[in-house]
Amino acid sequence: MNHYEVSYKHATDDPVEFWNHRAQEIDWIEEPSKILSTDPNGVSRWFEGGKLNTSWLCLDRHVEAGQGDQIALIYDSPVTGTLEHYSFEELTRRVSLIAGALRNSGVGFGDRVVIYMPMIPETVMAMLACARIGAIHSVVFGGFAARELSSRIDDATPKLILTASCGIEFDRVIRYMPMVEGALQMSSFDAAPVVVLQREMARETLNHARFVDWDDWMSRATSVDAVPTDAWDPLYILYTSGTTGKPKGVVRDCGGHAVALYDSMHSIYGCDVGDVFWSASDVGWVVGHSYIVYGPLLKGCATVLYEGKPIRTPDAGAIWRVISQHSVKTFFVAPTAFRAVRKEDPDCSQLKRYDIECLDYLFVAGERLDPPTWYWLKEHLNVPIIDHWWQTETGWSICGNMVGMGLRETKPGSVTLPVPGYDLRVVDDAGIEIPTGQTGNVVLKPPLPPGTLTTVWGDHDRFVSSYWNQFSGYYATGDGGYRDEDGFVYIMGRVDDVMNVAGHRLSSGELEEAVASHPAVAECVVIGVHDELKGQVPIGLTVLQDGSNVSAETLQQDLVEIVRRDVGAIANFKCNCVVEQLPKTRSGKILRQVLRKMVDGEPYTVPSTIDDPEIIERIREKLLEQGILAKPN
Ligand code: COA
Ligand code: AMP
Repeated sequence: MNHYEVSYKHATDDPVEFWNHRAQEIDWIEEPSKILSTDPNGVSRWFEGGKLNTSWLCLDRHVEAGQGDQIALIYDSPVTGTLEHYSFEELTRRVSLIAGALRNSGVGFGDRVVIYMPMIPETVMAMLACARIGAIHSVVFGGFAARELSSRIDDATPKLILTASCGIEFDRVIRYMPMVEGALQMSSFDAAPVVVLQREMARETLNHARFVDWDDWMSRATSVDAVPTDAWDPLYILYTSGTTGKPKGVVRDCGGHAVALYDSMHSIYGCDVGDVFWSASDVGWVVGHSYIVYGPLLKGCATVLYEGKPIRTPDAGAIWRVISQHSVKTFFVAPTAFRAVRKEDPDCSQLKRYDIECLDYLFVAGERLDPPTWYWLKEHLNVPIIDHWWQTETGWSICGNMVGMGLRETKPGSVTLPVPGYDLRVVDDAGIEIPTGQTGNVVLKPPLPPGTLTTVWGDHDRFVSSYWNQFSGYYATGDGGYRDEDGFVYIMGRVDDVMNVAGHRLSSGELEEAVASHPAVAECVVIGVHDELKGQVPIGLTVLQDGSNVSAETLQQDLVEIVRRDVGAIANFKCNCVVEQLPKTRSGKILRQVLRKMVDGEPYTVPSTIDDPEIIERIREKLLEQGILAKPN
């Protein structure tokens, strides 16, 4: 057996011994008394009795080990023309001061802090400052609009909100204050003060007592040391799209997270102390949490915080420039970024301008790496291209090609093999395992490994109903796929009402809430259709109220505006089709799965319980007529 096979078997046969061994790699304030146990909710939990501090492990630990001068954070911002380097010592100093400012604002152990900030160093520092004092951060992606921000504020009930005056999208300044003010107006939770970091390109006048200037806030702060947290204490809440309009607050614990992420840096990404790791995501997403902030810093790597895009900041050579300039060893990005680069620079001619010998591995995740992009990358790059699969809930990779355990030959379209600790199965809709090669629901057999979600914030029943009730005895990933004769895993897409737009996860429910708020809409459904660049984009199918005389063009314009206002521009909602009726069962359930299959060009069966079996075909014809669906060859 090779190294990977030995590890996989070890983790499956004796998870306690396997993870105990890995837990020795981090410094505990108090060692765990039990490696695997069950919490009061009956959920498997790791490292009971252990005490640690994640911020200390990311910062002070390296300073104390003599690596204080080593670079921890590289802030590269082509959109502002800024390049900054922070050593572990400097980052520790700044984080300790922000932690002091949080304390002065009354933020204590277990209090929530909502962070709605762009890709700037203070965002990373604020996250680590929360972790330092045992406060729970909840970062909200800057691309979300007021309503999404407000629903997260209502759910997390923060003691404090941290924001900045703006983000920058290519050359556009996106002011955050209208979004924050809008969210606070909508919010039913009205208690938290808001600290605003003023950026030069959009200084705001703060004329309400609730808003505090970041510099004033910091001026009275003195640094504070890291406090011990229990392994089971929450480190953060990160909201993700479920199948309804209400986002789910995924809760991550401190102990399991630190152990799993530390280990993953070498075993999955091949990185060691001092290496440079770049994940071109956003701190608002799980990839940003795990591999811009926590993973690289836990390991003692330098992490790149890139405030820019793969194209037009300033050109399609941006990725190669950053890799070359900062000697990046491992790079991680969503495939959509390469589709954008390929579209602008099909021959990859920009690459000739840079020396990227430093690069050892290229990782992609967030959506399926489509074979054409895989072949394009293979043609132009001389490094392994590794597609790996995970989700907000797991916080780290479920399947991948583990370079620290001996790289394997990859197969296009596959995410390779399950990572040790994940017992992966493929089951049919009744939860029965199905043979090799057949597509079904991808599920995980408990215990899930350390670092995976422990509950849904404030709603444990939802944790059970969303993940554990569908297939008895298994965690439902929400993805469909299959394994081939070599055990390689292929993830084919979501089997629920979640879509993936440019690597961003969105639920039909949250988009439908926005569309349904239009007075002319009687009912609607929003589904994802294939898009060359973004993977999927949403389209609305709407039925008009009786007597409504709004034109289809006006309705579409209105809906585009509403979705941008309520959900955010990242939804990429550009298209609505007015239909006479929606396909429903006699009990009134919309046949979403049939619609999804129809737009994906997959075979579908119209159930006998439908009122009008012809309706799906009529919708398909209309979508083809309007050019929303491509005509089959
Ligand atoms: N704040 C505010 N607005 C944002 C935003 C943010 N953080 N991120 C995106 N938007 C806006 C964009 O400006 C755009 O607005 P517009 O419709 O007014 O032009 C809209 O949301 C759609 O953005 P996007 O889908 O990202 O398209 P794009 O054309 O601006 O950029 C790519 C295309 C490929 C460059 C970009 O999608 C990309 O870099 N994707 C990678 C995403 C990623 O890393 N995902 C990984 C998550 S793990
Ligand atoms: P998120 O929680 O936002 O990270 O989105 C997770 C979802 O993105 C997964 O459930 C998958 O549907 C999809 N996804 C992530 N990585 C991959 C991948 N490598 N291949 C296919 N789908 C992926």
